[in-house]
Amino acid sequence: MNISKQHTSFHDITLETLVIGVTKNMENSPLWAELTAFAGEALTTWLQSGEISSDKKKLTKLPVLLSSNSNVKRILFVGLGDANKLVEQDVREAFGLVGKEMKALKQSGVAIWLDSFVTDEINVLDVAHVAAEGSTLGYFTIANYKTTSNEVEKYYEEVELVTAADIDEVAASFKVGRIYGEAVNAARTLINLPPNMLTATDMANYAVELAEKYDFEYEILGKADLEELGMGGILSVNQGSHEEPRLITLKYKATEDWTDVIGLVGKGVTYDTGGYSLKPRESMVGMKGDMGGAASVLGAMQIIGELRPNKNVVAVIGSTDNMVSGTAFKPDDVITTYSGKTVEVLNTDAEGRLVLADAVTYAKQQVATQLVDVATLTGGVIMALGYDKTGTLTNNDEFYAKFKEAAEETGEFVWQLPLTESDKKRIRKSDIADLNNSPGRDGHMIFGGGFVGEFAGDTPWIHLDIAGTSDAKAPSELGPKGGTGVMVRTLATFVELLGLESESN
Ligand code: BES
Ligand code: ZN
Ligand code: ZN
Repeated sequence: MNISKQHTSFHDITLETLVIGVTKNMENSPLWAELTAFAGEALTTWLQSGEISSDKKKLTKLPVLLSSNSNVKRILFVGLGDANKLVEQDVREAFGLVGKEMKALKQSGVAIWLDSFVTDEINVLDVAHVAAEGSTLGYFTIANYKTTSNEVEKYYEEVELVTAADIDEVAASFKVGRIYGEAVNAARTLINLPPNMLTATDMANYAVELAEKYDFEYEILGKADLEELGMGGILSVNQGSHEEPRLITLKYKATEDWTDVIGLVGKGVTYDTGGYSLKPRESMVGMKGDMGGAASVLGAMQIIGELRPNKNVVAVIGSTDNMVSGTAFKPDDVITTYSGKTVEVLNTDAEGRLVLADAVTYAKQQVATQLVDVATLTGGVIMALGYDKTGTLTNNDEFYAKFKEAAEETGEFVWQLPLTESDKKRIRKSDIADLNNSPGRDGHMIFGGGFVGEFAGDTPWIHLDIAGTSDAKAPSELGPKGGTGVMVRTLATFVELLGLESESN
């Protein structure tokens, strides 16, 4: 991407499309005078008559005939509503719409008048970040396998930023936003991949490519390795499959010493049939996305690789499919996890927690001193919170407070549920094993996450159940339906914040 700088005036713009934010009563602001001096007084009349809409999330596209020395062919006005009610997420979403419009117009680049989006609350650096991030997300196209062309258009080959602020800082912030957006889109692409095109082996290969690109240490454990280690959780889920499982570990070393390490643990179930506790046919469709947690972790690692925060990170992904065959595990089996804890299997469809149990134990062994696990773990979270909220659990309020800060910064909605002693009792209830994997359908999401918590122990831990948020049922401002890449940005921001914290200590 080429960001051209130095633009403090509209006359230097070389691209065809100029993007401008319009707030209510903008005709009274000095910014508007600057614009009309360039593009003509007629704009004011159109704004007043509503031809150019200042309504929130309303785009107006106007062809403009300007003096011979300007290349601008059209202005894309982005309605923002009341300037004093505007929050960052609104601007992010507005730029999502801009991204969609760029795609429709087949524009690989645009000029953006950043200053027109600045308010008392939102400074130009924030605008630059969310502009890049939002438009990159909005532009995202799902790869398809139709026999007709599937060329993904190139976008943001070029951008021109119009601002009176320090252009280098602004451009840097724009680049960061772009990195965030691209990483989310990479996660989306992984989630959308059909299960025959993304096996555990494929996922491991993808992770290795990422590791090589960003100079992460990595380790890929195959079936024989897992057997040797005694990882009965992931192995039992894999038992019915022809595809080998993989335990994927990536390490980003920020400091010389490997202390103070956050572990990001992802559920990478490439297909979930439910196993012998077979899913009904309607709910099986879509289970290619059961590796959304793994995709979030890999997306976050991409940002971490690009931006190199000051925090050690170990990513651990347990990957396998959950299939049915004569060798598959079954309800009533008792398995021994990597931790040594035994589990009575009551439901083979509660497989994610078994995979995560081993992955979490492994992350701790790689000396993760803090843990976040991300998983499409339960339908229960959808019943509780719907499709637009990620459900969370934690064993450490202070650690969670920092995470919450990160989620607020990225605009990704998270909601904490309780995990009580009586919930834990239910998870530990079994006549023949230490734990059971399905205490009941009441408090479903809590039991799922709580089970993983048994393996986190006293290590500060956060559980993110993204079963509702990982796959969008309908398009939104920030992307099409399908994989959302939820939590990629929040995880990366969290790591960044933790890094800043250790810097100041
Ligand atoms: N992968 C599913 C959870 C899920 C549901 C993800 C809907 C995405 C959308 C998980 O492995 C599962 O099947 N969970 C069961 C747990 C139950 C058997 C205790 C569920 O949610 O019904
Ligand atoms: Zn399942
Ligand atoms: Zn699952």
